[in-house]
Amino acid sequence: MSDLTKSKKYPFLLVMLILCIMTELALSLAKGMTQAMSEYSSEMIRLPEPVQDSDTSIEEAMRKRRSTRSYKERPLILAEISQLLWAAQGITSQRGLRTAPSAGALYPLEMYVVAGNVNDLPDGVYKYGPHKHELTGLAGGDKRNELCKAALGQTSVKDAAAVIVMSAVYERTTVKYGDRGIQYVHMESGHAAQNVLLQAVSLNLGAVIIGAFHDDAVKKVLKMPEREQPLYIMPLGRMK
Ligand SMILES: Cc1cc2nc3c(=O)[nH]c(=O)nc-3n(C[C@H](O)[C@H](O)[C@H](O)COP(=O)(O)O)c2cc1C
Repeated sequence: MSDLTKSKKYPFLLVMLILCIMTELALSLAKGMTQAMSEYSSEMIRLPEPVQDSDTSIEEAMRKRRSTRSYKERPLILAEISQLLWAAQGITSQRGLRTAPSAGALYPLEMYVVAGNVNDLPDGVYKYGPHKHELTGLAGGDKRNELCKAALGQTSVKDAAAVIVMSAVYERTTVKYGDRGIQYVHMESGHAAQNVLLQAVSLNLGAVIIGAFHDDAVKKVLKMPEREQPLYIMPLGRMK
């Protein structure tokens, strides 16, 4: 082999070596992240970016929506949880306005996730932070059975892969609108819940609204602050 051919090969080999090292580094980083995600932690969990489009029209989602109370035992994925939370309260404008309307843009609603069978999300209770689109861990362990008991034993709650619970801080709205604000909060919670139900259809997931539950028991399971009032329990899982 001539010296000229050899010298041409060296840069190529060097590039290949750098690519191999970078691939190895990326793989070990990804492995580390997966391991970190498999254990419950009270730290923030950044959610995957929600998608802003789909092949399901709003008409199709409304037509197909049906209360679904039993699910396959297959897990949900974190991207689906991300999408459902975005549908509920995701930020959709530079000014901080959200997917659901809010009287006076005062945003009294809070979203919790009770995870029991979600890939890359350890079992536990989490609170959604819409501004950074992230979850904060509140408690570890599978709380679906406890939540099911608080919901008068309705099996959809324990059979769901994950449950979204919506609560409200009434004062955020009543401080401006007085007692009328209570009505506004209830109206607003309906908007957000319907967004979740329609998003679930678009993701081909089953969901139901649970209104029958003991408020105090739900608050206890979710470690909800005193000033919050639970309004909706929404079990979610894969369609049978
Ligand atoms: C405010 C509210 C509370 C509800 N509570 C429950 C409940 O506790 N358990 C349940 O299985 N379904 C509950 N549902 C679902 C209704 O039973 C369901 O929407 C109704 O049967 C109509 O069926 P569809 O949703 O498939 O159209 C509730 C619905 C609403 C709007």
